[in-house]
Amino acid sequence: MTEAFESIAQRNYIYNPPCRGSIKAVSADYSCCQCHATYPVRHGVPILIPGITVERSNFSLADDLITRICAAEKIPDQPENRATLREIFAWNYRLADLWLTAENNYYLKRIGLAVDGYRPKAPRINQESLNGDIRYEIPFHRIPATLPPGETRSWNVRLVNKGAGVFSPEGPQPVFFCYRWRDSTGTLIRSAEVRTTLPVEMAPGRGVTIPLWIATPERPGQYMLEVLLGQDGPIWHEHGACKIAVQVSASWNSAVPADRLTLHRLPETYDYRIDHEVGRVFVKEELARRRQPLRHALEVGGCCNPMTWDLPGEVVSTDIDVQTLQVGALHFAATKPNIKFVAADALKQPFADGVFDCAVLFSTTAPLAGSSGLSAGDAAGRSARRVPRYSL
Ligand SMILES: C[S@@+](CC[C@H](N)C(=O)[O-])C[C@H]1O[C@@H](n2cnc3c(N)ncnc32)[C@H](O)[C@@H]1O
Ligand SMILES: [Zn+2]
Repeated sequence: MTEAFESIAQRNYIYNPPCRGSIKAVSADYSCCQCHATYPVRHGVPILIPGITVERSNFSLADDLITRICAAEKIPDQPENRATLREIFAWNYRLADLWLTAENNYYLKRIGLAVDGYRPKAPRINQESLNGDIRYEIPFHRIPATLPPGETRSWNVRLVNKGAGVFSPEGPQPVFFCYRWRDSTGTLIRSAEVRTTLPVEMAPGRGVTIPLWIATPERPGQYMLEVLLGQDGPIWHEHGACKIAVQVSASWNSAVPADRLTLHRLPETYDYRIDHEVGRVFVKEELARRRQPLRHALEVGGCCNPMTWDLPGEVVSTDIDVQTLQVGALHFAATKPNIKFVAADALKQPFADGVFDCAVLFSTTAPLAGSSGLSAGDAAGRSARRVPRYSL
């Protein structure tokens, strides 16, 4: 079972994030040579996330859903694989501050299987607890103090549910993330309102870092930006709003380091498939410029379908979505044994420095930038020989 990850593990490439002791295969599991912490391996996927607990999901995948997962993931529809899929989803993985169930709902939606009831929902006390108690906190944000006029861009904002009910982007009164502009006299500026839908349901206590879409005023000047939650009506939940002084100016300094390549595209022209294909070509061109054989590539947030699936060499796809990684391992085991799946938190990568020739992220940087001040791109870059100049 541990064979899938052998080449990396045997060469002292993985370590235990809390103590940095090296991790070795011990019978069916992995164990830290220094502190003896153990990490389970599930269906070929080492789960290298400190503090994760594994529990029965009390949930059985229905036959038709298994058929559809096999079709979507091109897994041969054979009794053995069907039993493995059922077993994969019979377990849940719990982290102290992350709610992995939400990630799985996202996965099922992504492959067009958003069938209600297949995955456990956020614990709801009753219907009234849904979007009924809107109390929140915005502990940090990455909105720069200067922004360009008349442009719409997304900036990471951390939102924490401090109420007793669930915040949901669905239902009769969906909760959305929003903002308002005031001028220097405190007068509200009339401007086109851009709402940001919550990416997942948020149970009480849950925090999520959300890329908030913000359209800036056309006229340069000094403004006050209020970031807050809203509901249809509109109802503005001002208590808990975050107020940020912003200078709107044509000569603004982008928060993106000058040596990184930025491709500007209008949000309304975004097409997932085309965007990812452009990214894949870009990665290959950059690798070709190195004129050196690629030995190890890391994809962070690669889920069950890493975009680097056709690179030569060993590709390691890491994600926190443990079940989905196991689906990926089942899919690629026979056809692409060079792709390894490892459950790991992007900000606590369990790899020794310099193991990888390149590290890439696709559609993953924004939700991951954490409070540590380290972006997922930087964290991934540490494991690469050189810090990559870009992330996707
Ligand atoms: C928007 S999806 C992108 C999936 C895939 N890369 C793509 O482009 O289709 C973001 C991925 O990031 C993963 N993710 C979220 N938080 C993470 C964390 N802290 N560490 C590792 N992966 C994480 C999610 O499980 C999900 O698979
Ligand atoms: Zn240790």
